[in-house]
Amino acid sequence: MVYHVPALLDESIEGLNIKPDGIYVDATYGGGGHSAEILKRLKKGRLIAFDLDEDAAGIVKPDKKLLFLNQNFRFLRNNLRFNNIETIDGLIADLGVSFHQFDEPERGFTFRYNAPLDMRMNKAGAVKAADLLRTMDETSLANLFYEFGELTNSRRIAGEIVAARRIKPLTTVNDMIEVMKKLAPYRQEHKFYARLFQALRIAVNHEIENLKELLEQSLVVLNRGGRLVVITYHSLEDRVVKNFMRTGNFEGVEEKDFYGNLVTPFRLINRKVITPGEEEIAGNNRARSARLRIAEKI
Ligand SMILES: C[S@@+](CC[C@H](N)C(=O)[O-])C[C@H]1O[C@@H](n2cnc3c(N)ncnc32)[C@H](O)[C@@H]1O
Repeated sequence: MVYHVPALLDESIEGLNIKPDGIYVDATYGGGGHSAEILKRLKKGRLIAFDLDEDAAGIVKPDKKLLFLNQNFRFLRNNLRFNNIETIDGLIADLGVSFHQFDEPERGFTFRYNAPLDMRMNKAGAVKAADLLRTMDETSLANLFYEFGELTNSRRIAGEIVAARRIKPLTTVNDMIEVMKKLAPYRQEHKFYARLFQALRIAVNHEIENLKELLEQSLVVLNRGGRLVVITYHSLEDRVVKNFMRTGNFEGVEEKDFYGNLVTPFRLINRKVITPGEEEIAGNNRARSARLRIAEKI
């Protein structure tokens, strides 16, 4: 089985504008698809790759230009420093889960298979999805599904979970589906479950906090002219990236100088978000929600 099929591969690699002797970071190694293309373009340069999943660590192809770190990318700067690297020439992050993580039933990322409600990208992580469902109060659960799943009936969702867990804890995918069944909109069940599971996954893995840390630290370590290339898979992440690239902050608040010019640390390489074409989607349907943004540090 393939570990992963990279999305927007050509567009994102081109966006990195690789110098053969530069230092690059792939924050999300996964199956190494993006990394392999970067390595092909390096001569004296180096690639530092991160992935917190030990399964990704297990399939890394050795290469003398590659340093793989089985680490969370939110510790980008410390890890680079530890390896005597102060600045880099480009960073790519292809966020979310790999096909491998999604397709391994026992990891509990998808509603398609019954399995324990786990969803940790880092198998050594302390908190699983089932723990959140067991311990979070009703308001926090409602906020979680509203914020991370963009589900407008999040209060009812939280109410049903809290009522159900008084009788029996929700520990498996089927437990969750059983409780949520009555709230699933007719003929949109899959979309509804996908959003529920996405929301839990984002919370379990602190995905938004990790992304914000990564973006802030990338700004510090990127050289002038260095590229930041980010592929997101849902609107919440995309908004964070878009705002940060446009204004240098996550809220998208514009700061202007005396002359009314926008003060920003980046030059946008693509003003309009890049999405996969029909041909790519036909060959890899899971790439359909990918959104690519590229910026250059000024
Ligand atoms: C969409 S896949 C990347 C696929 C990769 N570009 C390829 O071509 O195969 C996302 C990967 O990022 C990893 N990941 C997600 N969040 C991470 C984090 N905070 N730190 C390190 N790795 C992370 C996941 O474990 C997963 O393997």
